[in-house]
Amino acid sequence: MILAQLTDLHIKAGRRLAYGRVDTAAFLAAAVDHLNALRPAVDAVILSGDLTDGGTPEDGAALRDLLAALRAPWLAVPGNHDDRAALRATFPSEIDRRTAPGPFIQVVEDRFPLRLIGLDTTVPGQPHGRLCAERLAWLEARLAEAPTTPTLIFQHHPPFETGLRHMDVQNLRAADALFEVLARHPQVRHVACGHVHRAVETTVRGVGVSIAPSPAHAVTLDFHPDAAPSFTLEPPMIRLFRLDPAGMLTSHLSAVGRFDGPYPFFTPDGGLIA
Ligand SMILES: [Fe+2]
Repeated sequence: MILAQLTDLHIKAGRRLAYGRVDTAAFLAAAVDHLNALRPAVDAVILSGDLTDGGTPEDGAALRDLLAALRAPWLAVPGNHDDRAALRATFPSEIDRRTAPGPFIQVVEDRFPLRLIGLDTTVPGQPHGRLCAERLAWLEARLAEAPTTPTLIFQHHPPFETGLRHMDVQNLRAADALFEVLARHPQVRHVACGHVHRAVETTVRGVGVSIAPSPAHAVTLDFHPDAAPSFTLEPPMIRLFRLDPAGMLTSHLSAVGRFDGPYPFFTPDGGLIA
């Protein structure tokens, strides 16, 4: 099974540029083309928040038009730039009807060998994330349903510090509570996050956790504690996950763009090209 993660798309209505500079619609269109061209085909795509930049219905409509080209089925959770009601109204079948009852946009996908659970970490009006007791109880109940199925959780806010201070102050608050739940459910193989617009990986209490890059702008890699919030236009990348038949879950980064190659290592008669 091959899973792709699209995150932090920041789509704006009317092709307006994010931060006056980033053509996020063009970046998403390129990322969708890239995913559609992958062979073997991607089985599913997880969208881990900040799908829109301003959370308006108009931003949502622009997002809907761009995602219509994506061939793989997708699941989504919101980020701090999104608005739950606008996402539900824009995607009645993809989001509203398939998410759990209640205010949160949380979702389970059971039809793949890797079970997918999307958590809503957003706090309306705030940039940081939090999982309240209600959301954690929902997660605990979902995990108890399939205790032996390899499971990947996806959410917007990362539950760890990256060293990028202006982002770390708005990560998932009280993350210990999440890992208390995960400690009781060892089938959870990975937690895939967004929000930081960079590729970052770590383990927390033995669970692999990662942040995927955005297919648009990147947060500047600057570990200085007083670094001003800024972004760069680095080569866009998409995180892929592959679950092999033996149950090994691996992650790859796939750069979006046209690159020289591929060139063979070997001649037709099997010799290494010197
Ligand atoms: Fe973002």
